[in-house]
Amino acid sequence: MTAPNPPFETRTLPYGKAAIVEAARLIAAGEPVAVPTETVYGLAANATDSAAVARIYAAKGRPSFNPLIVHVADLAAAERIALFDKSARALAAAFWPGPLTLVLPLRTGAGISAAVTAGLGTIALRVPAHRAMQALLAATGKPLAAPSANASNRISPTRAEHVLATLGGRITLIVDDGPTSAGLESTIVKDCTILRPGPITEPDISAVCSRAGAGLKLRAAIPESQESRLGASSAKIVAPGQLASHYAPSKPLRLNILKAGLDEWLIGFGPVKGDETLSVSGDLAEAAANLFAALHRADAAPGRRIAVAPIPETGIGAAINDRLRRAAYR
Ligand code: TXA
Ligand code: MG
Repeated sequence: MTAPNPPFETRTLPYGKAAIVEAARLIAAGEPVAVPTETVYGLAANATDSAAVARIYAAKGRPSFNPLIVHVADLAAAERIALFDKSARALAAAFWPGPLTLVLPLRTGAGISAAVTAGLGTIALRVPAHRAMQALLAATGKPLAAPSANASNRISPTRAEHVLATLGGRITLIVDDGPTSAGLESTIVKDCTILRPGPITEPDISAVCSRAGAGLKLRAAIPESQESRLGASSAKIVAPGQLASHYAPSKPLRLNILKAGLDEWLIGFGPVKGDETLSVSGDLAEAAANLFAALHRADAAPGRRIAVAPIPETGIGAAINDRLRRAAYR
């Protein structure tokens, strides 16, 4: 298999037995496959096969210093790959399967390709709750490395058509199981420190960590202000993939806007009615599930710029605002 030139024909198959059999066949042959999780669609490949992992990076056009999340079927599979302390085990018990990623010391001899961890001594692991990713894990019997299934620096995909928009011609198969439910990438936690906010909120993590005897150290390693000012260079230290412009639409984007300018497409929330509204009732979970699709539509809509209404910082609002600040950064 050579580089994706000439381009692949990209097929989309609805979730079901035939799709999973075909996806597992491709994974065994060293090909990445796009498959939904409860957060966003992932581009999955065998995490123990360096050539397969290289094809993920090639399809996404992703810099290879940026390590990938590895998906496994259950805690037992995760413990074969990484070392869990008391708080990590408590977090896994509380939130797996689900949208939580734990960064843990990698076991020596675990068989994970160094291309997955970008040479770090740690690994990011997650047990997804989605039936399609779980079925693929069962069918392949392999740990599956899967970043979000979008071209590098583009908006994350919450629908099969978003995957097709940036990876069409660069991968061979998308398993389509409709829109994802959480809508934002998993919360990433290392040593009870939140590296990336997500659907599992800070109070959720904090409660479990303090019960396990380890208090939550809230993003101590990357102060929010420093991260948004310095972007990639400061963020690289702890989470190499936390690039400031990671979720960028192609148009300039302004935040906390109550009234759009003439050339702006407004994404509303609650009482602020936009060209579309993330949640008319002001429900943050609904807004999170709609966010990336709204950004995809705003990018394709008329108007040279995008504006977004204020979103409260509470609960999953913190993760929504994190993604919006990154989308606004340029
Ligand atoms: O919800 C999700 O997490 C989705 C779905 C597909 O599971 N995946 C996802 O993967 O968002 P990706 O590759 O787009 O983001 C991985 C993040 C990056 O920010 C990366 O730097 C961080 O995880 N990461 C991976 N390994 C790490 C490590 N050893 N230490 C710190 N951060 C790590
Ligand atoms: Mg991503």
